Amino acid sequence: MAAGAGWRMGAGERGRRGAETLFRGLLFCVLGCGFCWGNSVERKIYIPLNKTAPCVRLLNATHQIGCQSSMNGDTGVIHVVEKAQDLKWVLTDGPHPPYMVLLDGELFTRELMLQLKGSSRISGLAVAISKPSPAQGFSPGLKCPNDGFGVYSNDYGPQYAHCNWTAWNPLGNGLAYEDFNFPIFLLEDANETQVIKQCYQDHNLPQNGSVPEYPLCAMQLFAHMHAVTNTVTCMRRSSLQTAFSLNPEEVCDALSDYNVWSTLKPINTSSKINPLDEVIIVATRIDSHSFFWNVAPGAESAVASFVTHLAAAEALHKVPDVQMLPRNIMFTFFQGETFDYIGSSRMVYDMKMDKFPIRLDNIHSFLELSQVALRNSSVLWVHTDPVSRRNDSIQPQVETLVEALINSSVGANVTLQEVGQSQPLPPSSFQRFLRAKSIPGVVLADHRTSFQNRYYQSMYDTAENILMKYPEGLSPEETLDYVTDTAKSLAEVATVVARALYQLAGGTGNTSAIQADPRTVSRMLYGFLIKTNNSWFQSIIKQDLKGLLGDELPQHYIAVTTLVNTTQLVQYVLANLTGTVVNFTKEECLNPEKTPNPEKEMYVYTWVQGSRDPNSTSRVPFCVQSTVHLTKAASPAFELKQWGSTEYSTWTESRWKDIRARIFLIASKELEDMVQLPFLLDLMLQPTVFTLAGTTDSALPSLQEDEACWRIPLFQASLL
Ligand SMILES: *[C@@H]1O[C@H](CO)[C@@H](O)[C@H](O)[C@H]1NC(C)=O
Ligand SMILES: *[C@@H]1O[C@H](CO)[C@@H](O)[C@H](O)[C@H]1NC(C)=O
Ligand SMILES: *[C@@H]1O[C@H](CO)[C@@H](O)[C@H](O)[C@H]1NC(C)=O
Ligand SMILES: *[C@@H]1O[C@H](CO)[C@@H](O)[C@H](O)[C@H]1NC(C)=O
Ligand SMILES: *[C@@H]1O[C@H](CO)[C@@H](O)[C@H](O)[C@H]1NC(C)=O
Ligand SMILES: *[C@@H]1O[C@H](CO)[C@@H](O)[C@H](O)[C@H]1NC(C)=O
Ligand SMILES: *[C@@H]1O[C@H](CO)[C@@H](O)[C@H](O)[C@H]1NC(C)=O
Ligand SMILES: *[C@@H]1O[C@H](CO)[C@@H](O)[C@H](O)[C@H]1NC(C)=O
Ligand SMILES: *[C@@H]1O[C@H](CO)[C@@H](O)[C@H](O)[C@H]1NC(C)=O
Ligand SMILES: *[C@@H]1O[C@H](CO)[C@@H](O)[C@H](O)[C@H]1NC(C)=O
Ligand SMILES: *[C@@H]1O[C@H](CO)[C@@H](O)[C@H](O)[C@H]1NC(C)=O
Repeated sequence: MAAGAGWRMGAGERGRRGAETLFRGLLFCVLGCGFCWGNSVERKIYIPLNKTAPCVRLLNATHQIGCQSSMNGDTGVIHVVEKAQDLKWVLTDGPHPPYMVLLDGELFTRELMLQLKGSSRISGLAVAISKPSPAQGFSPGLKCPNDGFGVYSNDYGPQYAHCNWTAWNPLGNGLAYEDFNFPIFLLEDANETQVIKQCYQDHNLPQNGSVPEYPLCAMQLFAHMHAVTNTVTCMRRSSLQTAFSLNPEEVCDALSDYNVWSTLKPINTSSKINPLDEVIIVATRIDSHSFFWNVAPGAESAVASFVTHLAAAEALHKVPDVQMLPRNIMFTFFQGETFDYIGSSRMVYDMKMDKFPIRLDNIHSFLELSQVALRNSSVLWVHTDPVSRRNDSIQPQVETLVEALINSSVGANVTLQEVGQSQPLPPSSFQRFLRAKSIPGVVLADHRTSFQNRYYQSMYDTAENILMKYPEGLSPEETLDYVTDTAKSLAEVATVVARALYQLAGGTGNTSAIQADPRTVSRMLYGFLIKTNNSWFQSIIKQDLKGLLGDELPQHYIAVTTLVNTTQLVQYVLANLTGTVVNFTKEECLNPEKTPNPEKEMYVYTWVQGSRDPNSTSRVPFCVQSTVHLTKAASPAFELKQWGSTEYSTWTESRWKDIRARIFLIASKELEDMVQLPFLLDLMLQPTVFTLAGTTDSALPSLQEDEACWRIPLFQASLL
C-alpha cells in the first residue's frame, strides 16, 4: 500500500506513516493536484465554511476592541473543546501548536477567553452557537452599558455614576469590549460545525493516549484588520491620506446611519415649529449588537420595543380627533444607541444647533420604551430620574406623566408600577436629552432593577428569548399573520402607551377605543425577527429596494454603510402604519414639488410596490403620504472632528479586505506554513521546484489518479 493512503487511514494504521517526509507530502500534493487540475483544484483542497460570522475590530477614542488575524490568515490544528478539561490539550499538552479551538458555545465565557488570550499556543477560535441558548445566560456587553455617555457623572447625580446604584446588565462579561489578537469566528450552522468535528475526529483525536499524527485537520481564519490603536489614530491617518494621496485608503469608518422619526400632526420640516408648540417625544432604539459582526438579533433589547412603539403609533393615528390634540407627538427611532448613544446624541446636537425643526424647548415630555418584552410577567416598571425630580417645576410634570401611564393601565392586562424614586434611570436615550436640559420624562422597562434579559446584546437575544412560538406546520404566510402570545402582550403594552400619550397630548375623549392591533404586532415581530422577505414587507417598500428583503434572520447592527436594512424597514413600516394612501400618479408621487400641492412641505410621499395581484404576477403600486423622515445618526464627534471626544460617541469600525474561514488537512508541520493558497497554487503550477529540491523519481509513490484526487487535503474558500 502506498504510504500516501494514510490521508484516509484509520487510526490503527497511522503509526506506519511515521517516516513520511516533507517532500513526499508536497509531492503527493503536486501530483494529486496535477491530476485533478482543470476541474477545480481549489475545491478539492479546502472546505470553505459558508455560515460564519467574524469578530471584527472596532475602535473608540482610546482603545481598539474585537479581533483580527494576521495578513494572510491564521492557521492551526483544530482541537474541539466541549468541556473545560479539553482545554489542557491546547494550553499545555498538545504537541502541535498553535491550535485552532472549536469551542462549544456554553464555554464561551470571560474566564476561559482570558485563559486563551494569554496563550501563545492559540491561533484562533471558532465558537459553535449553542442550541438551546446557554441556561446560565450570556451577554458579551458591559455590566454598565454606555457608561460615561449617559447623564450621570461627577456633576450630575455623582452617586449614580458608573452604575454605582445598579449594575444594569449583571451578566455582562464585557467580552465584546476586549481586544483579541487572534481571529474569532461564530459557526452559525450546526451542520458545518459537524463537518469540522468529523474532520477532527477522523484525524486529530488522540488515540489510546498517544498523540495524533499528521496529516491533521486544520482551520484557517482570515480577518485581517487595517485599523489599529484607536479612532484618533485611524481618523488622523484617513484624513492625511485623503488630503495628500490620490488614492486615499481609509482604514476605518464611523459607525453611523439614520434615525427615523415622524409626527402625529404634520409639521413643516423646512422651518422651525412655533416656539410655543409642545411636542411629546416617544423613543426607542432600533439597533443591537453582539460579539460578532452583523450578528445582532436584538429581540428583547430592540425589536420588541420598537415594534411596540410602532403599534402605539398606529393606534394613535386611528383616533378620529387626533389632529385636534393641543400637543403634537413625535415618534422617534434611534439608530446606534448601543454605541454610546450615537442617534440620540446627534438629534440633541441638531436640536441645540437649530438644525432640527423641533427645538429642545418645544419638548413637553419624553416617554421611552426600553426593554418591554414582558415574557410571563405582567408588570411594566416606570423609571424616572431622581436628580431632575428635585427641581420643583419638573417634579409635578413627572408625576403627571407617571399618573397618566398608571391610569392607562387600569383594566389592562399590563400593570404599570413606579420604581423607587431614588433609583436612577437605566441606560436610555432619554439620558442624552437630560444631559442637555431638564425635561420631564419616563423610561418604561420590564425590569425593576437590573435587566430581565439574560442575553442582552448577544447572538441569543432571538425570538425564543421573548418566547415567540408558532404552531408547527404553518406556511410562511400563515406564520406572518399568526398572533402569538408575545404579540398579544406587546399589543397590550402598546395600547397602554397609546392611551397615555393621547391624554398627555391633551386628548379628553374616551380612551377605551384606542387599541393596538395584535395582528400588526405579529406581522412586525415576524418581519423583524424571522424573515424580512414576507408579503407585507414586499408590499410596503419601494420597488428598487427589493434587495432589502431576504430569507435569512434579520440583524440590527448599525454598521458603517448608510441606510441599513432595519432603518429602511422601520421607515416603511411606520409610513404604512401611520400614513394614508393618496391618489397620486407615480410621476406626482416621485416629484411632489412639481405639483401645486400646498401641503408638500408637510408630508413625505413614497411610491410603494403594493401587493401582488392574486391572479397575476404583477403588483399594484401606490402612493403613500406620511410624515416619516430620516435624519442623520452620525456622532457629532465626527462632524466636529473631535475624534478623542468623551462627550460624543467615537466608535469606528476597521476596514478589511478578506474575511473567510476554511478547513483542510495539513501533511506536516513544515507544510503548515505553506498552505497559503496563492503560494500553494504557484507550487502546483511549477512542479520543477520540487525536482530542484532534490527529489528523485524513486521517491514518488505509485498513485492511482483518482486516489490522488481525494488524497489532496480538503477544500476551498468562501466569502461571507
Ligand atoms: C486502543 O486500545 C484498544 C484496547 O486497549 C485496542 O483494541 C486498540 O487497537 C487500540 N488502538 C490503537 C490505535 O492503538
Ligand atoms: C473605549 O472603550 C474601552 C473599552 O470598552 C473603554 O475602556 C474606554 O473607556 C473607552 N474610551 C472612551 C473614551 O470612551
Ligand atoms: C443539516 O443537515 C440535516 C440532515 O442532512 C438537514 O435536514 C438540515 O436541513 C440541515 N440543516 C441546515 C441548517 O442546513
Ligand atoms: C460550503 O459551500 C461549498 C460550495 O457549495 C461546499 O462545497 C462546502 O462543503 C460547504 N462547506 C461546508 C462546511 O459545508
Ligand atoms: C414651510 O416653510 C417654508 C420655509 O419657512 C415656507 O416657505 C413654506 O411656505 C412653508 N410651507 C407651509 C405649507 O407652511
Ligand atoms: C428647574 O427646571 C427648569 C426647567 O428646566 C429651570 O428653568 C429651573 O432653573 C430649574 N430650577 C432649579 C431650582 O434648578
Ligand atoms: C440586508 O438584507 C439583505 C437581504 O436580506 C441581506 O442580504 C443583507 O446582508 C442585509 N444587510 C445587513 C447589513 O444585514
Ligand atoms: C423573497 O420571496 C419571494 C417569494 O415571495 C421570492 O421570489 C424571492 O426570491 C425572495 N427574495 C429573496 C432575496 O430571497
Ligand atoms: C399598508 O399595507 C397594507 C398591506 O399591504 C395595505 O393594504 C395598506 O393600504 C397600506 N397602507 C398604507 C397607508 O400604505
Ligand atoms: C384618482 O385620480 C384619477 C386621475 O387623477 C381620477 O381619474 C380618479 O377618479 C381618482 N380616483 C379617486 C378614487 O379619487
Ligand atoms: C381571480 O380569479 C378568480 C377565478 O379565476 C376570480 O374569481 C377572481 O375574481 C379574480 N380576482 C381578481 C382580483 O381578479
